Amino acid sequence: MPAIVVRNGELLDPGENISGLGHIVAKDGHITYVGPDLAQARMVAGPDAMDFDAEGLMVVPGLIDMHVHFREPGNEAEETVASGSLAAVAGGFTSVVCMANTDPVVDTEADIISARQKSELVGLANIFPVGAVTAGRRGEELAEMAQMARGGAVAFSDDGTAVPTAGLLRRALSYAKMLGRPILEHCEDRSLIGEGVMNEDFVSTTLGLNGIPDEAEDIIVARDVALARLTGGHIHIQHVSTANAVAIIRSAKETGVRVTAEVTPHHLTLNSDCLKTYDPVFRVSPPLRTQTDVLACRQGLKDGVIDAIASDHAPHLEEEKELEFAFSPPGMIGLESTLAILSTELVEPGFFTWSEILPALTAHPSDILNLGRGRLRLGLPADITLIDTKMRWQIDKHRFHSRSRNCPFDRREVVGRVVATMVGGKVKFSLSNPTVS
Ligand code: DOR
Repeated sequence: MPAIVVRNGELLDPGENISGLGHIVAKDGHITYVGPDLAQARMVAGPDAMDFDAEGLMVVPGLIDMHVHFREPGNEAEETVASGSLAAVAGGFTSVVCMANTDPVVDTEADIISARQKSELVGLANIFPVGAVTAGRRGEELAEMAQMARGGAVAFSDDGTAVPTAGLLRRALSYAKMLGRPILEHCEDRSLIGEGVMNEDFVSTTLGLNGIPDEAEDIIVARDVALARLTGGHIHIQHVSTANAVAIIRSAKETGVRVTAEVTPHHLTLNSDCLKTYDPVFRVSPPLRTQTDVLACRQGLKDGVIDAIASDHAPHLEEEKELEFAFSPPGMIGLESTLAILSTELVEPGFFTWSEILPALTAHPSDILNLGRGRLRLGLPADITLIDTKMRWQIDKHRFHSRSRNCPFDRREVVGRVVATMVGGKVKFSLSNPTVS
């Protein structure tokens, strides 16, 4: 494989103190040069190297999405490993972390190995599988966690639902601690969700839709950080959506609990007012909350209380998403819109700088899951994303590589676009040549 010199880009990696014009050499799959000296870069790259002109582009560590749902096995009409991987690289993601709620559920070592083999066959993004916490995600007994860790599971999660009892989660956290893995928890109390389909607030009352109170999330978050304190295990709170959850995580972190958290682009930018259209595309778990919650999530991200941004890419069939609101399944796709939405809604208006956003999409998820990536650092895999931060375009769900179309941001005019994605030193997506692989 010839070396590649990514030259004249605006390099940015706040964690490595890299910011400014420079060049990167990717050789034998790894980063072998990062810096401002083109002559030296060429020397490191050797005589046969290819050039990738990054002039005018922001060059950042390959993005990592620590929460996606590919529907293989079981629901391949919604998403396969291949279609999801293509959506990932088109969205700038070089690594994705796949949840276990496939059909059948990923709850054995063989399932983990099979997921890894499929991703290697596809050969686009790095895919890191998560194993279920409980067998079949039934919430009754623990799954074979040690064997799944041996097979390559990077974490455990019953995502889609919370682990139902404190006793079970206590044991899971103790095992996961021994295995050096976090538990990723979907924090919603089933008994408080009840028949709820959206946030319980003024809008749900007006629309006549059953509501889900904030407390459904807050109670589980409080329980989970208490159990992380008890066991010394690492709890990671998925898709934080309420102001109270942010406050609970903040105070737990202040007292040294091993807790980390993620937030989705939709919980950072949309609120329950969107549901006034009754459009099921806005149905998601946990639900879109109020603007107060949105602002609290943003503040949590700014302060480092929330560590990561993850799409919770959840593909569903169009015919299911066209059902009446209460009958359509919760979930939104996000791999191909995340970068542009963060750019347009958070960076462009000045709420965040790229330096504040990027670690949440790179180094932080890598550290939470021990992936050993997410940085423009010598010796690491050459996973690199090139972004035109000024390019204006319109999101068009019909042009997505995902098999599903349930995107709440369709038709939005946005700024900021992924131009190329390099995984292990190979160009896996290029806007000018979308078929590169
Ligand atoms: O809205 C959601 N959809 N939230 C989840 O946690 C699961 C996901 C899915 O699998 O569809």
